[in-house]
Amino acid sequence: MIPIKDKEAIARMREACTIAATVLHRLKALVQPGISTYDLDQAGRELIASHGARSADYGYQIGSRRFPAYTCLSVNEEVVHGIGSLKRILREGDIISLDVTVECNGYIGDNAITVPVGTIPPRVAELLKTTEEALYLGIRQAQAGNRIGDISHAIQTFVEARGFGVVREMVGHGVGRSMHEEPQIPNFGRRGTGEKIRPGMTFAIEPMINLGTHQVKTLTDGWTVVTADGLPSAHFEHTVLTTERSPEILTLPRPLPSSLSQTPTTPSLSTRN
Ligand code: MF3
Ligand code: CO
Ligand code: CO
Repeated sequence: MIPIKDKEAIARMREACTIAATVLHRLKALVQPGISTYDLDQAGRELIASHGARSADYGYQIGSRRFPAYTCLSVNEEVVHGIGSLKRILREGDIISLDVTVECNGYIGDNAITVPVGTIPPRVAELLKTTEEALYLGIRQAQAGNRIGDISHAIQTFVEARGFGVVREMVGHGVGRSMHEEPQIPNFGRRGTGEKIRPGMTFAIEPMINLGTHQVKTLTDGWTVVTADGLPSAHFEHTVLTTERSPEILTLPRPLPSSLSQTPTTPSLSTRN
């Protein structure tokens, strides 16, 4: 059963999602050659805390493993679940996926973008553009009366027509009190299949798209998913609320109630030359 959110739950989802989007927006502004992914993660930790929220990633458990960072930061061939490191310094020509998931008042907001570091090769720029457009095409299908497979199909056909690979192992998902609720929302599938979409559902739609093969593997850290061929990968994600018509995107930066909007001081970055 896919949970339907009542008015109260939707209000809280809105708040968590606004915070997640605001933090993502602020992190994006820090991306530049020379910064380490550790510093970006620490900035994420501080920004999340400054909004009275907590990272839903930190301590997230799969089996006996707990995720050790506050955000997911995935560079180049890293698809998702990259762990910030002082050793990974961004360079001109890299791309980095920033995935921010926060919990506030018992509800979760989840969103991601992939951004270029300076100038990137044209085909990689196409990968980013295609992945973002695929997200919006998927979102457009998340309407009452449609089925989950309509979202999946829209994303897959658009992406594959452009010669990119759709990751199979990780999928979008329902989101609410938990980060991952029913249903699973694959980025590949058949039109008219899967559960029916009704108003009041909240979904994280998140195409993960590879420049080359769709195949991936997990590094020995147990978290970082990378492309099997070492080519770059992109990831865009929004949390949306379904309605009778077009869904509402909840993860947009917008003014917060004053209790949650105190402007943090500039995040402290470890100095390095
Ligand atoms: N934000 C991810 C998602 O889009 C999940 C994070 S997994 C964690 O579903 F291990 F980093 F927490
Ligand atoms: Co996410
Ligand atoms: Co997600």
